[in-house]
Amino acid sequence: MPEGNVNSFDNLFGDTSPKNLVSIFLLGQEFQVPKNINLLRAFHYITNVYSDYEIKLQKHCWSGTCENCKCNFEDNQLGIAEGLACQMEVEEYIQIKQIPRTMKKKIPHGET
Ligand code: FES
Repeated sequence: MPEGNVNSFDNLFGDTSPKNLVSIFLLGQEFQVPKNINLLRAFHYITNVYSDYEIKLQKHCWSGTCENCKCNFEDNQLGIAEGLACQMEVEEYIQIKQIPRTMKKKIPHGET
């Protein structure tokens, strides 16, 4: 858990004990995220816990109107599809093929 306000972290992400985490795949890389949250909140969790990505949360309406959270994914029910991360629940083993344009992979120092 990152340093900061523990209560606000718990309020945002709920129970993050190992028994409450599920695997999702982001551009082929596996991440463990809390279940029972929406996919946009899972992206938020990844940017907090793994530090591989950053996300501009102020650009999101969280209500399905701005479409800034649109992503492409593949799952067992729909196959390859497009969806709004703020309107989708985390689904174990979902494959995210394209991330929202407000979320970017961090470039480590020394790499171009
Ligand atoms: S955050 Fe605006 S549509 Fe998902």
